[in-house]
Amino acid sequence: MPAIELSGRRIIVAVTGGIAAYKACELVSTLVKSGAQVRVVMTESARRFVSEMTFATLSGHEVAWDMWAPRTNVEHISLAEFAEVCVIAPATANVIAKCAHGIADDLLSTCLLALTCPVVIAPAMNTRMLCSAPVQANLATLRERGVHVVEPEEGRLACGETGAGRLPATEVLVEAVRDALRSRRGAMSGMRILITAGPTREAIDPVRFLSNPSSGRMGYELAAEAQRRGADVTLVSGPTSLPRPEGVAVVAVQSAEQMHEAVQERAGVVDLFIGAAAVADWRPAEAATEKMKKGDREEMTLRMVRTPDIIASVAQWQPRPTIVGFAAETNETIAHAREKLQRKGMDMIVANDVSEPGAGFEVETNRVTLIDVIGRETDLPLMSKAEVAAAILDRAGALIASRESQ
Ligand code: C5P
Repeated sequence: MPAIELSGRRIIVAVTGGIAAYKACELVSTLVKSGAQVRVVMTESARRFVSEMTFATLSGHEVAWDMWAPRTNVEHISLAEFAEVCVIAPATANVIAKCAHGIADDLLSTCLLALTCPVVIAPAMNTRMLCSAPVQANLATLRERGVHVVEPEEGRLACGETGAGRLPATEVLVEAVRDALRSRRGAMSGMRILITAGPTREAIDPVRFLSNPSSGRMGYELAAEAQRRGADVTLVSGPTSLPRPEGVAVVAVQSAEQMHEAVQERAGVVDLFIGAAAVADWRPAEAATEKMKKGDREEMTLRMVRTPDIIASVAQWQPRPTIVGFAAETNETIAHAREKLQRKGMDMIVANDVSEPGAGFEVETNRVTLIDVIGRETDLPLMSKAEVAAAILDRAGALIASRESQ
């Protein structure tokens, strides 16, 4: 089995109020040293055992615990969008019960309810509490839902008794985090994903074309991440300078027409379609077969015609795949994106204001809002395009699951 690299992984460490909370310091420190990006969320009672200052220093980020702190974003949602995996260590009987029953009465439990990533729970408590019927029933419910429960170790407990209930050593917890990430890797196993990426080139003559500054990076990151998650990925790409993502079938095209044809060839055999290409809306009505000469003209007029709308044509397929599109806008981004989502028959649209610094074309980062067909709208913070790709696939996976269950 390939080793799971922790470097760059986005991990939430959720600390609840047991004496073993001090051991979570070592866990955070170990994850950070492995290169992971760690955010710590605490309950009020955990703060009685360890100061949030300790975790803020170890993780290099402010600790989230106060539901009512003044802020501009919805913290439990942005944390949930951030996470690739969440580890609750130590997990008290109280938080286990809340998780099992969907109770959300503080920042930590609210955040847990919003997570779509794998969750690791490391229970730590007195043996009799651990063995009690409600705790065991709640753990069984969580296991059934796919939560990774780390077995507590036996030994001397803080209360003086001896038995099962100790928080396992940091290495055991880190291994459980790796296992959970590994399970996420296979989350799209067997899924057929078709992605368009990059710009298109619309020929004016054999040596000139109309195009745009799309680098193709967003689509390539999506293809690479979907492949890592076990999907069978085809990338239809306009001209870019990016290396071909490993394990991905790439179909190279130039024009919108060619991109449309390459996509249409796969009608009926796609589960998820992601239109990340910056497709030209117009092309010259006729491309000259020979290089156009300037002559002594001061002006020239190019007659343009519409290109096919690829995404809208995919929405006509039977069976229709789940469809994700992009809206790169320079004004009224959200309103335009919502309109586009409806008009083109998409399930989700990724809206970004390309006039914002760090977002859009030719940069490595992006700041996007995910809007889906049932009206959910999530603002993601400025992230690398790889992180945005992971967040888009998490949400797309959840949409596919909800369509399947209907
Ligand atoms: O309205 P607009 O065409 O800008 O919508 C952008 C979305 O539609 C993107 O997801 C883009 O890949 C897709 N698109 C398409 N075919 C076109 C134009 C855009 O699939 N001809």
